Amino acid sequence: MKIGIDKIDFYTPPQYLDLVDLAHARQVDPNKYLIGIGQKKMAVAHLDQDIVAMAANAAEKILTPADKQALGLVIVATESGVDQSKAAALFVQQVLQLTTNLRAIEIKEACYGATAGLQMAKDFVQCHPDKKALVVASDIARYGLNSGGEVTQGAGAVAMIVSVDPHILALEDQSIYQSQSTGDFWRPNYSTEAFARGKYSEEVYLQMFSDIWQQASSQKMTQTEQLQALLFHIPFSKMGRKGLKTLEDKLATADYQRLLQRFEQSIIYGQDVGNIYTGSLYLSLLSLLENDSTLQVGDRIGLFSYGSGSVAELFFGQLQPDFKKYLTPLVHQELLKQRKQLTLVEYENIFRQKLVTDGSTQKLSQSDCNAPHYLTKIQDHERFYK
Ligand code: CAA
Repeated sequence: MKIGIDKIDFYTPPQYLDLVDLAHARQVDPNKYLIGIGQKKMAVAHLDQDIVAMAANAAEKILTPADKQALGLVIVATESGVDQSKAAALFVQQVLQLTTNLRAIEIKEACYGATAGLQMAKDFVQCHPDKKALVVASDIARYGLNSGGEVTQGAGAVAMIVSVDPHILALEDQSIYQSQSTGDFWRPNYSTEAFARGKYSEEVYLQMFSDIWQQASSQKMTQTEQLQALLFHIPFSKMGRKGLKTLEDKLATADYQRLLQRFEQSIIYGQDVGNIYTGSLYLSLLSLLENDSTLQVGDRIGLFSYGSGSVAELFFGQLQPDFKKYLTPLVHQELLKQRKQLTLVEYENIFRQKLVTDGSTQKLSQSDCNAPHYLTKIQDHERFYK
């Protein structure tokens, strides 16, 4: 039985900061951001586009009435959760008017959360082949003004439907995974910004990729003549490039060049959106599928997922007949093109905005006219959405 990604889409807020402007403001050579980090723009979210609203806006686009009826599991993966108790998936269930006959939960493990969700959804569908699962990765990456990680911020959500006989990518059963407690990146409950040991986090990412690749190779899972593309978690595109570079000496030149060419297609969306934490790997998948015209039905793709703290996994999937029919590259190119460019002052003002925490009422206006869902108000410590 084939199980995998049946549909995929994404949402990102309609405004961004150009990283050349950020570089000038922080008195950094723009090439450090453009080449050294490998990013061009970062999406900036207003308060009304929190991770619930973004998740609903991404999922809305792929759910037909029949899909909604078939859902048995809804997972929102996030490391920017809005409640310590109630799952973001329950808010999403409510705003999308989904059936009540489903499990709605939230998963957290830094940028790995959506992969945990995807694997759980696959197992769920294996047990309940008549049902579908919705997995949404939604995050706002915040490191703070003037911080080392500031240039690697971003905001957005990727939604996927998982089902039997998927239209896009059938997932293989076998994968290699690894977990180990590390202090490379974390965000305590009391902080709205993440803390990172930046260079150490890069080391752990690369070490876990290397260990996992070696294990996968010894189990003959990585024969590169079969591997048409290799995708990475992309906190910033240079990180994935460093991961791929570790294979340069291990692969035949033609195989490495093919993976490198496809890697370039996989970072196009992420370079304009920024880090969306748990959605980043899946934004890379969408970017590859929509920007590379050479991929064929049956091509095998590897996906390397990394979440700080740290959990990593390498898994594989095969492109399905008609996968191209289920993609909307023009819509996504337009979505990115239509965004408003913020000035540095506008970006800093949005960054400093905060929701009330004293139980008073705060009403919010809709910042994205094209997005149906947004946070409308906070009242008595509760969130309300349209
Ligand atoms: N032209 C071209 N390149 C330049 C340059 C210039 N003028 N100036 C500097 N560079 C290059 C540097 O040589 C360096 O390249 P290498 O990494 O290849 O050595 C690169 O730009 C970055 O410069 P720095 O070494 O000075 O790095 P930094 O101190 O500014 O920190 C960072 C960079 C560590 C990524 C920091 O932005 C950070 O902490 N980010 C958040 C943490 C993170 O994303 N970690 C990734 C792994 S963890 C993960 O993946 C989970 C997650 O999503 C958070």
